[in-house]
Amino acid sequence: MTNLLLTGIGHLTTNVGDPIERAAVSISDGEIVFAGAEADAPEQGTSERLDCEGRAVIPGFVDAHTHLVFAGDRSEEFTRRLAGERYTGGGILSTVESTRATPTEELYDLSSLRLRRMIANGTTTVEIKSGYGLDLETELRLLEVGRRLGETLPVTVKTTFLGAHTVPREYQNDRQGYVDLLVEEMLPRVGQMADYCDVFVEDGVFSVDEAERILTAAQSLGLPSRVHAEQLTHSGGARLAARLGAASADHLDHVSEEDAQALAAAGVSAVLVPGASYSLRAPQAPGPMLSEAGCTLALATDCNPGTSFIEAMGFVVSLAVVQMGLTVDQAIWAATRGGALSLGLEDRGAVAGGMRADLVVLDAPSPAHIPYRPATPLVAVTITAGEVVAGGLS
Ligand code: NIG
Ligand code: FE
Repeated sequence: MTNLLLTGIGHLTTNVGDPIERAAVSISDGEIVFAGAEADAPEQGTSERLDCEGRAVIPGFVDAHTHLVFAGDRSEEFTRRLAGERYTGGGILSTVESTRATPTEELYDLSSLRLRRMIANGTTTVEIKSGYGLDLETELRLLEVGRRLGETLPVTVKTTFLGAHTVPREYQNDRQGYVDLLVEEMLPRVGQMADYCDVFVEDGVFSVDEAERILTAAQSLGLPSRVHAEQLTHSGGARLAARLGAASADHLDHVSEEDAQALAAAGVSAVLVPGASYSLRAPQAPGPMLSEAGCTLALATDCNPGTSFIEAMGFVVSLAVVQMGLTVDQAIWAATRGGALSLGLEDRGAVAGGMRADLVVLDAPSPAHIPYRPATPLVAVTITAGEVVAGGLS
């Protein structure tokens, strides 16, 4: 393990107080041991130095909602939508078809390529959902790929079982049969491979009652809930998430103020995915209202081939600021600490002694440059557990 000392930080976002100017961060064994004014930085035990030359440093991005493991391309569906076609979630089945037909090794390669681009764009922790298999064998393959990505790439992975993404073709006339299959056969088998269980609660997809049955069964097997809620219509997913004490309610484009209060009271994180609303050309979720109501906000890419083929958290921060109306500070917090809290990871998303050393050096003097210069790749260096894993300073 190297002991790394970052010096010359022009602007350090710590998430535990005001930003620090002319700062330094000292790392030992993958952990932050000092974060503060450069003048006070300890020199002892340093084996490597990185002079940031005035650049800004923020915590590594925590992308708390992705559907990263899939095969196939839906750019034609995207083009049809631009011409006026409505999104109903029906395209999920076309990705299910391509994914089922793709060998596990190839799924790993496709996903690893995407994840390496995410890391180069500053992501240090990622949540990965299954949900493009919708049969036991393929769902297990997807979760296995997710787990393996976390073992082989320098990023922390949390996996979520989303067998209830939609009803597969072979159960089109037997929804009840598919919910039974999920609860009775799939859940008991995926338990080892998943950290969470998710359901797409939406008119025409899964009802609140169906979701409650699935999520309750998952909870009794030790899998906490994440819920796709209020994305396309107001369908009751947020209230369900609150009632079940879910870890998160995600999307929330159509959430009401009463829902927001219920989420805040139940301590359910609100995971917002402005990339999906952007791609669907839909209004953004009411981030400022959710924040006012006291919800813990997280931001995520929702990376998937249908509604949000986005890998860079910086672009998500840009959308959250410019289109959703969060402040830069709120958006950076939500994309780092907020995501971490939604995944129960207290040890990251902040730059302070004792925290895991997941950091991003920006090629900019302050994080405001992320929304200010949206299409410019501004991540200069990604550091995971104290190691430089992407980029570099020259
Ligand atoms: O988060 N809402 C459901 N699932 C994905 C989209 C899936 C797809 O269209 O393939 C989402 O937007
Ligand atoms: Fe999603």
